[in-house]
Amino acid sequence: MSASFESLNNAVILRELDPDVESLLARLEIHDEIDSTNQALLVDDSSVAGKLSVCLAEYQSAGRGRRGRSWVAPYGGGLCFSVGWQFERQPSDLTALALAAGVVIRRALHEETGVDAKLKWPNDLVFDDKKLGGVLVELRAESRGPCHVVVGVGINVSIPSAQLGRIASSLNGAVDLFTATGGRQTSRNVLAARLIEGLSRMLFSYADDGFSTYLSDYCEIDYLRGRPVSLDDSSCPVSGLAVGVDDSGALLVDTGASVERIVAGDVSVRLVA
Ligand code: BTN
Repeated sequence: MSASFESLNNAVILRELDPDVESLLARLEIHDEIDSTNQALLVDDSSVAGKLSVCLAEYQSAGRGRRGRSWVAPYGGGLCFSVGWQFERQPSDLTALALAAGVVIRRALHEETGVDAKLKWPNDLVFDDKKLGGVLVELRAESRGPCHVVVGVGINVSIPSAQLGRIASSLNGAVDLFTATGGRQTSRNVLAARLIEGLSRMLFSYADDGFSTYLSDYCEIDYLRGRPVSLDDSSCPVSGLAVGVDDSGALLVDTGASVERIVAGDVSVRLVA
């Protein structure tokens, strides 16, 4: 059995949005098919400071994941969207923006569906040791000028198990919301509205608040904390125990000899015999 299909609908999302957030919207567009919602907002130069652009799609033909990977979801099977925002100047905590986004996405997901997901540094939403979704932050910055960020969100909502099995993940495979909720149907429109609200409030205050406002929440839902991890895609492989993140969003790994700050990379969790 799978969830019945609900199309993304502009009017339903707008009706669900808090009026304060709706007033921040420059535009909200829904595409049946697009290459990538992140790409659409990255090349959009009509963005306005203090206003939010939102782009959703039923299907992305060239959906992007982190580190040059692709993001694949069947038509209508995921919630795939991006939010574009312009900071006056590049905020000092920009590298941790994906983690702050993860915190608010995870919170909205929990409030809307009851699903208790964790965050695997830097940007995976994890349920039952499997990948439920991901966040991809991309930016277009001008030197000493405004900084345009695009926060892309992909959540597996209802995806046939054979297709879920083909989604590559550094975790123990992938999972969808339908399974994570024990077979309940989630309205993608309502969930989109809650996620847009969370992200818009975060983006609106991020230049002033930075990541420190989100650090304690991050610690509560940190999937890696206390797990033995390896980072082997850099010139200098690191192995040790994940001990949290610092206030700039770097992953901290205790190697036994020192605590290393990791600012980028793919982390695998090592199985303990
Ligand atoms: C990851 O886990 O690697 C990040 C996945 C981010 C996927 C979303 S789907 C909507 C938006 N548009 C894209 O092309 N990518 C992001």
